[in-house]
Amino acid sequence: MLDVAMVKFIGDNPPGNGRVFLYLLCGYLTDIFRLPKKPIFAKILFALLDKLFNIFGKQGDGASGKITDFSLMTVDIHSHLIPGIDDGAKTMDDSIFLISRLYDLGFKKIITSPHVMADGYTNSSETILKGRDDVRAAIKANAIDIQFDAAAEYNIDDSLYEKIEKKDLLPIAKNYVLVEMPFMAKPPIMGDITYKLQIAGYNVILAHPERYGYFYEKTFESYYSLKDKNIFFQINIAALAGTYGKDAKYTAERMIDENMVDFLGTDLHGMRHLDFLNDSLRSKHLEKILNYDKLLNKTLL
Ligand SMILES: [Fe+2]
Repeated sequence: MLDVAMVKFIGDNPPGNGRVFLYLLCGYLTDIFRLPKKPIFAKILFALLDKLFNIFGKQGDGASGKITDFSLMTVDIHSHLIPGIDDGAKTMDDSIFLISRLYDLGFKKIITSPHVMADGYTNSSETILKGRDDVRAAIKANAIDIQFDAAAEYNIDDSLYEKIEKKDLLPIAKNYVLVEMPFMAKPPIMGDITYKLQIAGYNVILAHPERYGYFYEKTFESYYSLKDKNIFFQINIAALAGTYGKDAKYTAERMIDENMVDFLGTDLHGMRHLDFLNDSLRSKHLEKILNYDKLLNKTLL
């Protein structure tokens, strides 16, 4: 029933959140209707089926069901969609597929944010901007009506000092710089780096604060001390679907309830993350934050 192309596609995109049956259904329908046996068609068919099942799915934890996409968010500021330069999209086909799904989900603009870190993804501004231009050309060739730009997700490590000094940073629009930290331990230089960024004229956005155990395990008040230092918070949408565990979900929901969230982000890396985005549409907290008038995503269009 499953041909080689389909098996390769499944191997590259392992199923998440109980969607194995959708993959099997894809293979079955491909055979029955004699559809082209290419990974790109498998991906499109999978996405269509996934959307269909979500429309008829239950509404989860109390969401009204009025939110069916992310058009209220408008702009995504966190994703990994330049192929081959970090742990996100591997090929341009992957990038185009993911971007077209974001378009289907209501986004009008993507500001993608490849990892930049001293140990691992040592991307420069040049490699990121070259990748951005390549993806833009592919978006145009595929006639997808979406704006595409690139910034970066900077890991807080020693290499940032030189970048700040040289002003060699790719901000999200309006001088917002997106930073992340290791999940295991808070870097001692965090306060110093964020201060230096602010002195240099940048607004600091902390990516997925709900995922740092050393904050939420200590006390939720740690987050207020970051807000006191004018750090902007961007939570990951998938946290609301429980993708990163119950502690991250609780923390993200509490941040929404206490009006601490400035930005949302997809942090989209691959196919599995699309499942998580779809799952989050059933969250009443997603509905709440998308209707929050101080959510800043849409101001960056
Ligand atoms: Fe990320």
